[in-house]
Amino acid sequence: MRLTRSLAAAAAVLVVVVMLHWVGVDAATAAERGILLEFKAAVTDPNGALASWTAGGDPCVDFAGVTCDPSSRAVQRLRVHGAGISGKLTPSLSRLASLESVSLFGNSLSGGIPSSFSALGPTLHKLNLSRNALSGEIPPFLGAFPWLRLLDLSYNALSGEIPASLFDPCLRLRYVSLAHNALTGPVPPAITNCSRLAGFDFSYNRLSGELPDQLCAPPEISYISVRSNSLSGAIAGKLNACQSIDLLDVGSNHFSGAPPFGLLGLVNITYLNVSSNAFDGEIPNIATCGTKFFYFDASGNRLTGPVPESVANCRSLRVLDLGTNALAGDIPPSIGKLRSLSVLRLAGNAGITGSIPAELGGIEMLVTLDLAGLALIGDIPVSLSQCQFLLELNLSANQLQGVIPDTLNNLTYLKLLDLHRNRLVGGIPVTLAQLTNLALLDLSENQLTGPIPSELGNLSNLTHFNVSYNGLSGMIPASPVLQSFGSSAFMGNPLLCGPPLNNLCGASRRAKRLAVSVIIVIVAAALILIGVCIVCAMNIKAYMRRSKEEQDGKEEDEVLVSESTPMLASPGRQGTNAIIGKLVLFSKSLPSRYEDWEAGTKALLDKDCLVGGGSVGTVYKATFENGLSIAVKKLETLGRVRSQDEFEQEMGQLGNLSHPNLVAFQGYYWSSSTRLILSEFMANGSLYDHLHGNHTFSGSSSGVGLSWEQRFKVALGTARALAYLHHDCRPQVLHLNIKSSNIMLDKDFEAKLSDYGFGKLLPVLGSYELSRLHAAIGYIAPELASPSLRYSDKSDVFSFGVVLLEIVTGRKPVDSPGVATAVVLRDYVRAILEDGTVSDCFDRSMRGFVEAELVQVLKLGLVCTSNTPSARPNMAEVVQYLESVRTNS
Ligand SMILES: *[C@@H]1O[C@H](CO)[C@@H](O)[C@H](O)[C@H]1NC(C)=O
Ligand SMILES: *[C@@H]1O[C@H](CO)[C@@H](O)[C@H](O)[C@H]1NC(C)=O
Ligand SMILES: *[C@@H]1O[C@H](CO)[C@@H](O)[C@H](O)[C@H]1NC(C)=O
Ligand SMILES: *[C@@H]1O[C@H](CO)[C@@H](O)[C@H](O)[C@H]1NC(C)=O
Ligand SMILES: *[C@@H]1O[C@H](CO)[C@@H](O)[C@H](O)[C@H]1NC(C)=O
Ligand SMILES: *[C@@H]1O[C@H](CO)[C@@H](O)[C@H](O)[C@H]1NC(C)=O
Ligand SMILES: *[C@@H]1O[C@H](CO)[C@@H](O)[C@H](O)[C@H]1NC(C)=O
Ligand SMILES: *[C@@H]1O[C@H](CO)[C@@H](O)[C@H](O)[C@H]1NC(C)=O
Ligand SMILES: *[C@@H]1O[C@H](CO)[C@@H](O)[C@H](O)[C@H]1NC(C)=O
Repeated sequence: MRLTRSLAAAAAVLVVVVMLHWVGVDAATAAERGILLEFKAAVTDPNGALASWTAGGDPCVDFAGVTCDPSSRAVQRLRVHGAGISGKLTPSLSRLASLESVSLFGNSLSGGIPSSFSALGPTLHKLNLSRNALSGEIPPFLGAFPWLRLLDLSYNALSGEIPASLFDPCLRLRYVSLAHNALTGPVPPAITNCSRLAGFDFSYNRLSGELPDQLCAPPEISYISVRSNSLSGAIAGKLNACQSIDLLDVGSNHFSGAPPFGLLGLVNITYLNVSSNAFDGEIPNIATCGTKFFYFDASGNRLTGPVPESVANCRSLRVLDLGTNALAGDIPPSIGKLRSLSVLRLAGNAGITGSIPAELGGIEMLVTLDLAGLALIGDIPVSLSQCQFLLELNLSANQLQGVIPDTLNNLTYLKLLDLHRNRLVGGIPVTLAQLTNLALLDLSENQLTGPIPSELGNLSNLTHFNVSYNGLSGMIPASPVLQSFGSSAFMGNPLLCGPPLNNLCGASRRAKRLAVSVIIVIVAAALILIGVCIVCAMNIKAYMRRSKEEQDGKEEDEVLVSESTPMLASPGRQGTNAIIGKLVLFSKSLPSRYEDWEAGTKALLDKDCLVGGGSVGTVYKATFENGLSIAVKKLETLGRVRSQDEFEQEMGQLGNLSHPNLVAFQGYYWSSSTRLILSEFMANGSLYDHLHGNHTFSGSSSGVGLSWEQRFKVALGTARALAYLHHDCRPQVLHLNIKSSNIMLDKDFEAKLSDYGFGKLLPVLGSYELSRLHAAIGYIAPELASPSLRYSDKSDVFSFGVVLLEIVTGRKPVDSPGVATAVVLRDYVRAILEDGTVSDCFDRSMRGFVEAELVQVLKLGLVCTSNTPSARPNMAEVVQYLESVRTNS
């Protein structure tokens, strides 16, 4: 019973509400409904966003996007966003007498803003027509709207000039955006009339001329963007009053003069972009920096001077872009203190030198590090592997040396790794294959060696890959990912082979050759059987005649090539024109005519002439008629060299090397079965002979070892030769086989380093063939014995260090006093130095030494033989140190 009554009451209330509703749609409301329906009729509404706008509906209740004043029920706000509405704005909207806010953002409205909209003046607060397709000019009357606070006409196709009257009288305007239109002409000076203005965005138009003088006259102005226009002139002075500025973006214009760097220290600044203009001058010292200064972009100007150390005071910086300027000096290590930095770009300042500060590794948040196109030297700091969020690392086009750190795999998210055009050496770390997000890997134009790790084929997201112009060798991995980059990604590596290059690998290549020139090869083989090779003691009558001719003024012909069988011709075969070998001479002092060599042909492999063996072959002494001798090395292995072309290329490079402490390289001979290298013959044998062998050389009094002075001279000479190879030669030459038996002594006991530049001819290191380098054991740096094989110039430094120890102690690098014992020289010296009984280890056969010098050289030897390559000095430093040892005494 009670229930029925309350139900009835509820029904009654409902009826009353409905009645009130109908009464509410009075005549005025009906008129506004008509206006809105007129708007609807004028546009196309593909997504039905205005479906609720019906003739029977109440605009204040039913119409989506329409809001009315609660008391007067007049339409106050119209807000239809992203509905895809197209067509023209109807003038009728101007008849909505209480309209305060129109926001039709993100539709496809076209045509102009109807002039009848001026009728909205008394009520409009906000007009947001951003992201439509409106065209025509900006109606000037908007400036007279007394209540207008927000005007957004951005992302349309408006054209013409910005009317000056848009800002006259400009009573309450706080924010105006005209960005991304096609506006021309100047920024009207009248904008400074807008006393309430907090910001304007005129970016991405075609504005020209200069900025108004008192741009910051509106006291609260904090946001100014005129990015990407054609504005010009000086601006620094015009912005002095901008004390409240939060964002200033004047990028991509033609502004000139001093940049507005006076703003750098302001308390509220968060964003300063002056990029891509013609600003000049220096970046000032930034004594104090706003705590909210996040973005600083001054790239693409003509700034000079250094990157100030004090930029580190801007602790909140997230983006620091000073790229493409004319800045110079070092990268301040203090940048490493900017812990919030995510983008650091200094690229394209060719004057920035020095090395990459290891401190940059401390920037945990770093996402982009772009130091390309500077003049950086030194190594890539291993500490960069700590920047675990790095996505982009571009160090290309510098002069970086050393190896690619094998810890870069720590940069799990890395997408771009660009190290091209540097002087990096060593192998491609196999750990790079763990960077599975890598899209770009460019290692081209360096001096990298070794194979391309097949694991790189796992990088399935690679879209760009380039290892061209290096010294890489071996077969290109068959992986489809790598193969897809085509031959241009691999070219310029003479020792790389296999598809996509045309260079066939190993056996298959040889087989092809045989097919082509089978006859020649057979002839050659026959000849070699008859009388293998050159010249032990040649009677070269023609020699004297030849040198006379030269004195008569024929100075050319440094390189003489005999294309036909010079030393293999045998009497029985005279007249045979088979090309079976090629002799190239780099030295003018050698007989160079075919007959000269032919004349004294005698079996090269004459035991009488054998003077030594080595890791790459046997050495013979050949003496010409006039008493001139040369050393002829018969190669027993070609190491990684696969063809005559490669061999000749290597030899050609050797021919360009010249240093007083290098054994001069004089020429080479290639035939299909025999390869010879000709070089200066050294009268006094090798350092090894003097330290450990028989002292039977002229000039060395038998039985007595070298004096300290002689030894020191040898050490310094060898160091200078190595410093030349490492630091003066381009590409850098690594010796990789330094040992006392490769340090020759001339008649004055000057050191002459031999066997240099044979890196590629050495048996492939690290393989089982390592044992063939038996004689070098004790000299080999630990990194060479490890499977990753990352050798560098520091590996030579290690071997040189062992030679230093050998020179001072007279002991072999590894001695075996007993059957099962081996004493490693380095450990022995270290132990003795620690015991403090240094003089115990000095070579007893040494004469005339200064103990202090010996100790210094021993210590240098120990530093050079540090286990970690980076702890060893480089050869330039070694030379400096040695020179100071001698002058100090
Ligand atoms: C215009 O409306 C869009 C969408 O709501 C908004 O993102 C934009 O900031 C508005 N314009 C202004 C100047 O507030
Ligand atoms: C607005 O600025 C213009 C030009 O700067 C000036 O002529 C005009 O008088 C100013 N209007 C007001 C109301 O200050
Ligand atoms: C900086 O911003 C704060 C907070 O928005 C404001 O109170 C202060 O007035 C501003 N300082 C200047 C110099 O404009
Ligand atoms: C600075 O403006 C340029 C366009 O002029 C833009 O490309 C760049 O991203 C901006 N810098 C920052 C840090 O936003
Ligand atoms: C690295 O910088 C160089 C020089 O500025 C540029 O040519 C190259 O495209 C950059 N690499 C990447 C991956 O952006
Ligand atoms: C690898 O990154 C971690 C942080 O994720 C860091 O602590 C570590 O030192 C980095 N390792 C190397 C070798 O840089
Ligand atoms: C390749 O990129 C896609 C999208 O960028 C990512 O989802 C995927 O994990 C990446 N692949 C690998 C192997 O990392
Ligand atoms: C990467 O490649 C190597 C050889 O190319 C293969 O053995 C290995 O399984 C691959 N690893 C992954 C994670 O795909
Ligand atoms: C690799 O780099 C070389 C030299 O920089 C260039 O000539 C070649 O076109 C590049 N190849 C690819 C696939 O990017």
